[in-house]
Amino acid sequence: MRITHLRGVELTDPAPEDVAGFYEEIWGLERLDVAGPSVYFRGTGPEHHILSIHPGAQTTVRGYRLGLADRAAVDRAAAELGARSEVRIVSGPGSLGSPGGGCGLRIADPDGREVELSAEVEQATATVPGRITALAVVERAGDASAAGSAATGGRPPIRPTKLSHVVLNSPNAEAYLRLLIEALGFRVADETEHMVFCKCNLDHHSVAIARAPHASLNHVAFEVPTVEDVLVGVEHMAAHGFETLWGPGRHPQGMNAFGYFLAPNGQVVEYTAEVEQIPDDELTPRFWAPEDYEVYDDWADVSSLRPTPATRSLMRGVPETAPHGGS
Ligand SMILES: [Fe+2]
Repeated sequence: MRITHLRGVELTDPAPEDVAGFYEEIWGLERLDVAGPSVYFRGTGPEHHILSIHPGAQTTVRGYRLGLADRAAVDRAAAELGARSEVRIVSGPGSLGSPGGGCGLRIADPDGREVELSAEVEQATATVPGRITALAVVERAGDASAAGSAATGGRPPIRPTKLSHVVLNSPNAEAYLRLLIEALGFRVADETEHMVFCKCNLDHHSVAIARAPHASLNHVAFEVPTVEDVLVGVEHMAAHGFETLWGPGRHPQGMNAFGYFLAPNGQVVEYTAEVEQIPDDELTPRFWAPEDYEVYDDWADVSSLRPTPATRSLMRGVPETAPHGGS
């Protein structure tokens, strides 16, 4: 099976509208004109939507959406996964009722979330400018928010292009990795003591699994075009009262620049850029020990080598207790 890319992530929240404003007005996504109660957002790239927030008893992650090449690939995936006793197909294959349409199927992951495998989803047509302002403008103005607003007609000065990766904490990590690797065709890109980075295309990782005592969301990362955008994001978030939990820095695994923040719903979100692009025949996975980490860039915060205990605690997330699902 050949997954083409990570399309998006599906969150749940008792009050989706309460967090929607953050993603649109501060984080820089574009809200789709879709009637509630679920809310949908796109980035500047071609994906129809990259984030959706659905009503649910708990603030958590309902699942994520993966791309397949076409309808025939969906049918092949359904046959392959249907033949595996350890995989439970939740729905499909068939037409998807979600915005953007397309066809696909949904399977359960080992922790009870849902993974959509889909194709022929409508692509976004209107182009939204990517990086709109420059770090120099922000620094001169001394107020990232005002500078961003002035330069971008009231829009945040940062515009994520796509969903970069989803990191899940799992108490069933080995089963989870078997699902990703053996059933869905992911490859291991790198590994640390607690985390396994899995890739499905050139991106160093699209899904990572952290070994953990409970199932929860570790973090969700949104890609921005350049390192400068990550730094603009740090300034912009600070101007809105969101301190940087971790970063700015560059991860040894994937060489991506990062800045992590705590969204108002308590979930950890990341701006990232320059994710390493690795063809499968050049893949050389390795195990990274903490002493292997170094600071690669003069703009990076020296403390960015590793997260603080408080940030680690936030990334352990809230244990998932409620059944997933919803509209
Ligand atoms: Fe990340």
